Amino acid sequence: MKKALLILFIFTFCNQTSFAQKEITLLSIKNTANTPTINKNIYGHFAEHLGRSIYGGFFVGDTSKIPNTNGVRNDIVDALKKLKIPNLRWPGGCFADTYHWKDGIGPKENRPTIVNQWWGGVTEDNSFGTHDFLNLCELLETEPYLAGNMGSGTVQELADWVQYVNFGGKSPMSDLRIKNGRKEPWKVKMWGVGNEAWGCGGNMTADYYAGEYRKYATFMSDWENTGGLMRIASGANSADYNWTETLMKNIPGNMIGGVALHHYSVIDWAKKGDAVDFTEDLYFKTMQQALKMEELVTKHSAIMDKYDPNKKIALVVDEWGGWYDVEKGSNPGFLYQQNTMRDAVLAGATLDIFNNHADRVRVANLAQCVNVLQAVILTDETKMLLTPTYHVMQMYSVHQDAKLLPISIKSPLYTHNGESLPALSASVSKDKNGLIHISLVNIDAKKEHKIEIDMQELGIKNVTGTILASSKLQDHNSFDNPTKIQPTTFKGFEIKKGKLVITVPPFSVIMLEGK
Ligand code: AHR
Repeated sequence: MKKALLILFIFTFCNQTSFAQKEITLLSIKNTANTPTINKNIYGHFAEHLGRSIYGGFFVGDTSKIPNTNGVRNDIVDALKKLKIPNLRWPGGCFADTYHWKDGIGPKENRPTIVNQWWGGVTEDNSFGTHDFLNLCELLETEPYLAGNMGSGTVQELADWVQYVNFGGKSPMSDLRIKNGRKEPWKVKMWGVGNEAWGCGGNMTADYYAGEYRKYATFMSDWENTGGLMRIASGANSADYNWTETLMKNIPGNMIGGVALHHYSVIDWAKKGDAVDFTEDLYFKTMQQALKMEELVTKHSAIMDKYDPNKKIALVVDEWGGWYDVEKGSNPGFLYQQNTMRDAVLAGATLDIFNNHADRVRVANLAQCVNVLQAVILTDETKMLLTPTYHVMQMYSVHQDAKLLPISIKSPLYTHNGESLPALSASVSKDKNGLIHISLVNIDAKKEHKIEIDMQELGIKNVTGTILASSKLQDHNSFDNPTKIQPTTFKGFEIKKGKLVITVPPFSVIMLEGK
């Protein structure tokens, strides 16, 4: 009898031990020096003339009762400064290839109107133009990223824009700029050459676009002001690898600073689903689309490596995010959607992917900044709220310009209806003060997961943490309850014998700081 009990005890104990071990996922981190820097521009944003992004969003006009600086809302500026946004892309998107910049300079009362052909067919008065945008960037202390019009513009028009914005000497365009009140050039470095040239930017083939690009890029002179203009080619739609291959093959390396890539997490373009009222099934499908980013970035990078082994040309993911049906009752052309914990998880997991590919992904722009798609800020007249995605971007801002530390993790699976995704994602960096930041995301809608990190190997003794979590995936900040979801102090970890064991709740995003 005693023997049987002993066997039972050993069996149960061993089983529990191995069960417990299996339950803990090891995150191993290499604390090495020879790694790429996570370019802060990965944390970039995008403001298109679309819906209430610019007009009625950023820009309310200087006669508005909403506190503003030259027409731009002060509360938005303050919130974005706290986010440390490194760059802002403007004026589109599809709008960029319809935009004629000369219509947006000079006295506002003389500016012609433009009908926004892609987004709701609304008539705009061009009161927000080049000066307004570049002054806004100065206010935000952020780098402008101007998207040039190739689709309906001309080579001369884009060359003139570069001269207007960047030339410090005497020229027709710099004289015009000075006449319009700006003496010093802005020295804008990042320039897009068209947008989605395969679609709204002109329905071009990759070969045709590559030829056009060479022509446009030739006349976009640096004017020796920026220390190297970064000309960014309109890139592939998600998995169109032929597009990247054709561009890399046909555009000489000295004519190009970046190749773009656009990928939205959309379940089905015909039936995108509600932004708030969604099932776990739809959540799982959104995350399937979001995590595709890993494969996309890996494969586009591999193509770029063939032609550019020294990685001089950046992969610029200048449109990414979740795209759902518009809020009920809003203009379908305005792409206004709410933002839930689903979006927070999507943002964290995507930023981890970008961080871990920092050698090639050096610019990225969340679509979009204010009131459009996966926005970080929503406004309603005088009210403004910060979305869960805002909070994730703020938590992750500690990775900006820090050294990437390579990781390896064998994630447990998040299984739903017989399909699986890796439940955990992570990225780690070391900043210039030696602080180590570990971001963790659990996309699992139901289960918490445990992660173990060897602190001794990492050389850290103390850890603090912040978490973004909520009781329901559908939870969001509303104008009635704008602070429902906010980062809080995270205490869900234990330190034992130099090992850090973290319990990551379902659908949560965590940032740990170690020193
Ligand atoms: O971000 C909304 C739109 O999505 C952009 O205008 C376009 O580039 C993309 O298709």
